[in-house]
Amino acid sequence: MSDDIISYTSDKKGIVTSNSTPDDISSDIVSLRPTSFKDYIGQNKTVETFKIAMQAAKMRNEPLEHILLHGPPGLGKTTVAHIIANEMGKDLIVTSGPTLEKGGDLIGILTNLGEGDILFIDEIHRIPKVVEEFLYPAMEDFAVDFIFDKGIHARSHRYRLKQFVLIGATTRVGLLSSPLRDRFGIFRTLDFYSKEQLIVIIKRSAAILNTIISDDGALELAERSRGTPRIANRLLKRVRDYSQVKSHGKVNRQSVQAALKLEGIDVLGLTSLDRNYLKTIIDFYMGGPVGIEAIAATLQEETDTLVDVVEPFLLKIGLVLRTSSGRKASQKAYQHLKLKP
Ligand SMILES: Nc1ncnc2c1ncn2[C@@H]1O[C@H](COP(=O)(O)OP(=O)(O)O)[C@@H](O)[C@H]1O
Ligand SMILES: [Mg+2]
Repeated sequence: MSDDIISYTSDKKGIVTSNSTPDDISSDIVSLRPTSFKDYIGQNKTVETFKIAMQAAKMRNEPLEHILLHGPPGLGKTTVAHIIANEMGKDLIVTSGPTLEKGGDLIGILTNLGEGDILFIDEIHRIPKVVEEFLYPAMEDFAVDFIFDKGIHARSHRYRLKQFVLIGATTRVGLLSSPLRDRFGIFRTLDFYSKEQLIVIIKRSAAILNTIISDDGALELAERSRGTPRIANRLLKRVRDYSQVKSHGKVNRQSVQAALKLEGIDVLGLTSLDRNYLKTIIDFYMGGPVGIEAIAATLQEETDTLVDVVEPFLLKIGLVLRTSSGRKASQKAYQHLKLKP
């Protein structure tokens, strides 16, 4: 066991976090994060599934089934884990695939879990294979198998775990091995949010931040948030700063437009990276089809960033098309960038 295990585990009710992104650490984000499903907007069918599963588990006095959440960043996967722990009245232990380097890292966490505790593994597709193998018996039989010695002297000892609940989150479900995927009882993909849902989220966040926002301001912001609550909240803060300095604090359509122009966010909510991605396909590869590796090399960006962060929304709004021979820019992409095919 390495020393840092200690920082992952908690002995009291509460939330222990490791390896959070700066966004998650920021106290503002924490306070904007809903703590119950009552404040969790949208994803209605998914939320209904969780509510039923939680109620049934409580009635039977059993822990929940393991849950796998899939979807692009910022759609509310981590939030779901926090809410479920909160509503089940259990501890939440947070870790992530890349931080679990050795089997011992995971075993240290597992052996400290209490009955019904929620273990949240973010980016679970990035868990090393050697660590993943400890997860199978842990998820299925609530046990870890220690192997002592090697060869003919090898002995194994089975250590019983408390019945915990694993919630895994991933942006790339295709990278999960099927034995791992099959051990989750519930699998849900989160969708991008509608304009109407984002307006509700923005207004709630504005109220928490003590910011007055007009209806047209909330609509404008919702339209430019790439269907993503995390982006909506982040842009709201930028616009709030801008409005405070430039227009007596009130956020309206004009202040949203002016502030987002400074941020390089266009009318569809695209960032300069989104636009550069599209321009690369159009200018360098004559509109495609082109492989993602080639686009990444030209842009000098990580392939993962393009696949996880940039592409899902561009695919969703139909600016880019995925074909068997690669990515293609759509007619709509040319129109949006005011380019001729
Ligand atoms: N359904 C929702 N309703 C309200 N706010 C949400 C919702 N989903 C996400 N958020 C907001 O967006 C932020 C990012 O969500 P998070 O759960 O961290 O996304 P993910 O883990 O999928 O990357 C949260 O802190 C929260 O403020
Ligand atoms: Mg997250």
